[in-house]
This record gives sequence, structure tokens and C-alpha cells, in this order.
Amino acid sequence: MDKKRILITGAAGFIGSHVARLFINKYPEYEIYNLDKLTYAGNLENLKDIDKNSNYKFILGDIVDSELVNNLFEEYKFDGVIHLAAESHVDRSIENPMDFIMTNIVGTVNLLNAAREIWKGSHENKRFYHVSTDEVYGSLDLEGFFYEDTPYNPHSPYSASKASSDHLVRAYHDTYGMPVIISNCSNNYGPNQFPEKLIPLFINNIRNNKPLPVYGKGENIRDWLFVKDHAAAIDVIYHGGKIGDTYNIGGHNEWTNIDLIKVICKVMDKKLGRANGSSEELITFVTDRAGHDLRYAIDSQKLQNELGWKPSLQFEEGIILTVDWYINNQKWLDNVTSGNYQKYYNKMYENR
Ligand code: NAD
Ligand code: DAU
Repeated sequence: MDKKRILITGAAGFIGSHVARLFINKYPEYEIYNLDKLTYAGNLENLKDIDKNSNYKFILGDIVDSELVNNLFEEYKFDGVIHLAAESHVDRSIENPMDFIMTNIVGTVNLLNAAREIWKGSHENKRFYHVSTDEVYGSLDLEGFFYEDTPYNPHSPYSASKASSDHLVRAYHDTYGMPVIISNCSNNYGPNQFPEKLIPLFINNIRNNKPLPVYGKGENIRDWLFVKDHAAAIDVIYHGGKIGDTYNIGGHNEWTNIDLIKVICKVMDKKLGRANGSSEELITFVTDRAGHDLRYAIDSQKLQNELGWKPSLQFEEGIILTVDWYINNQKWLDNVTSGNYQKYYNKMYENR
């Protein structure tokens, strides 16, 4: 029997690389194709332990290029898609929304069109799984949670572009009967995250004795989930989720930014053998992010009840694993923070 062919988009990025590794190792009966443009956030180093596997193939390409996407679907006749490719950083979306509109909206529609064309209404064992974010729901006050039926209310160009793509994915289900599934996840942390996002940025700055730029008063709240737990959730949803449904994924692990940063500082002091409290001295309060959402918090009961998923790691363990990974992978950090990264950093933080 032919092997099932699964296209994972954006698998050279942070979450995508963990999903691809899990699928490649766990399902030798699948052929995994990674379509990635290798933007600043995509890095084949993230997959170097599995890139020689016979059930893995990398394809360099842009999901915005509809001709390329159509040709790939025509050539490989994918049975399933797990779509993670995206522009993913809120601050960059404030600087330059257009890349987000193109990749997150147009790119998603190109994939839907190509899948629709080759599947031609025969959807048995086919899946189009769209990976999305809790930011589409907007911002919470200090009480309550995001549920699967919470109305969309995005505030940044990033979250608005992800919300648009979610709507389009659902529209292709309702209009054309496409076999879609969506999940909306909270903030991820762990190995291989590009150091523009809070946790790896602060680990890297502490390592280099650079200021830690805390937006506003550091009172914003995020719900943090270890990236491998997100990958495990994607696995169970891809295989057991109900077509047309949405699943929320979260860690039930809320932290104000300032409290989280203090934990990172403590762990880093210990790991680097510095005096307790020395990293905290690097904390610098800077101008707040425009349109900064106060709080995200996910209710993931549906996923837990229907598919039996729950986070495997306590945050206290996950953050130590994460800090260890960055300390042990300084070359990875140095590689991704050379060149254009410095220009990005100076531009983003010069006027704060
Ligand atoms: P990332 O920025 O680390 O990786 C994105 C990947 O997509 C990179 O490899 C990049 O090269 C690729 N890519 C970007 N534009 C492309 C294009 N036009 N064509 C092909 N490839 C392209 O992102 P991430 O943090 O791993 O997020 C992955 C997905 O998960 C995104 O859809 C994001 O919205 C979603 N998500 C992220 C989080 C989080 O906390 N990071 C939480 C919930 C949902
Ligand atoms: O909630 C899921 C989302 O989480 C994903 O969809 C996004 O792709 C991902 O980037 C993340 O978005 P956030 O904006 O929450 O993550 P970020 O790491 O950029 O910021 C986390 C919090 O830390 C947020 O309140 C802003 C704050 N922050 C961030 C940076 C980069 C700072 O205070 N200083 C900083 O320098």
C-alpha cells in the first residue's frame, strides 16, 4: 500500500520542527514533506537530527506562490496538510503588516485551493489541519477563559491575519465541504524558538548582559505551554479530531510577564553561576506595545475530554529544560542572532 503523504508547512520554524520530528519518528508509515520559505524564522538546523530520514523531504518554497503550491499538490497528491507556515511575531506585524496579509491569508487560501482541486470532493481520509492562535479571540480581563465559541476580536495585524485565515478555512468547510480542523493554542515556549519572542530573547540578553526590555509595567498575562505538548496535541487532533471542529490548546499556566521574567532571571543566575539577583538588575521598563492585549487564558476542556490530551510538563520543569537548551546551544543562538537580527533588534528597540 502507498504511504500516506503529509505536507507540513513551516516545519523549519519553531513549532513546525517539533511537529515534524514527532511525526517522522512516530509514523514511519507516513511520508512527511516540509514546505518552507526559510524566512529569518526558518532554520534547517532545527531538523538536522532527522533530515536524513527516508520518510522526510524538504521543499524550499513560498506558500504565497500559487503556481508552485498547485504544482506540488499535483505532483505529490498529499493526503493531509498540517499548516503552520506563518509570519508569527506581533511586533513585526505592527512594523510591516503586509507580509502577514500575504503569508497568513493569501498563503492559506493557496493551500486550500490546491487541496480542494486535487481532492475534488473525495475527502475520505483527507485532512486539512490549520494551526492557529488564541490571539484571534482578543484580550481577557482578569477573569474568564477563551472557549472554542468565544467570538473573534483580534487587535494586532498578526492576530487579525490569523483570524482571517481561520474564517477562510471554516468557509471552505461550509462552502465546499473541505475536511478541515482548526486548533487555537496559547503561547509556546521551548527549544528552537527565534529569540525575538519573550523567553528566548530574555535568555539571550541575560547571557550577553544586555537590558531586558519589559513592555509597559509587565502586567500582561500569558498562558504558557511547552512546545512538545503543543506538538502532542496536534498529533491527537490530526488523528482523532472531528472534521469541521475547533480545539483550544493551552497550558492552564498563567503568568504575568514580570513574574515570569523574574523566574527566568533566577534560573539563569543559577545556571550561569552568577550572584542571585544579578540578572534582575537588567530589567528595564520600556514603552508598551501598541494595542497590547492584557490577558490570554485558554480553556482546553474539550480537547482533554474528547481526545484525552493534557500537558505533560509542569512549567517549573519546562523552563529549566528550556534554559538548558539555549545554554547548551549557544552556537544556534549565535547563528540566528548574527546578520539581520542586529538590524532588527536596533530598529525595534531604539525608541522604546
Ligand atoms: P515561526 O515564526 O517560528 O516559524 C514559521 C515558519 O514558517 C518558518 O520556518 C518560516 O520560514 C515559515 N514561513 C513563513 N512564511 C512562509 C511562506 N510564505 N511560505 C513558506 N514558509 C513560510 O512560527 P511558530 O512560532 O513556529 O508558529 C507556527 C504556527 O503556529 C503559526 O501559524 C503561528 O501562528 C501558530 N502559533 C504559534 C504560537 C507560538 O506561541 N509561537 C502559539 C499558537 C499558534
Ligand atoms: O498566544 C499565542 C501567541 O503567542 C502566538 O500566536 C504568537 O505567534 C507568539 O508570538 C505569541 O505572541 P505574544 O505577543 O504573546 O508573544 P511575545 O513573546 O512576543 O510576547 C509575550 C509577552 O511579553 C507579551 O505580553 C509582550 C511581552 N514582551 C515581549 C517582548 C518581545 C515584552 O515585555 N518585551 C519584549 O521584548
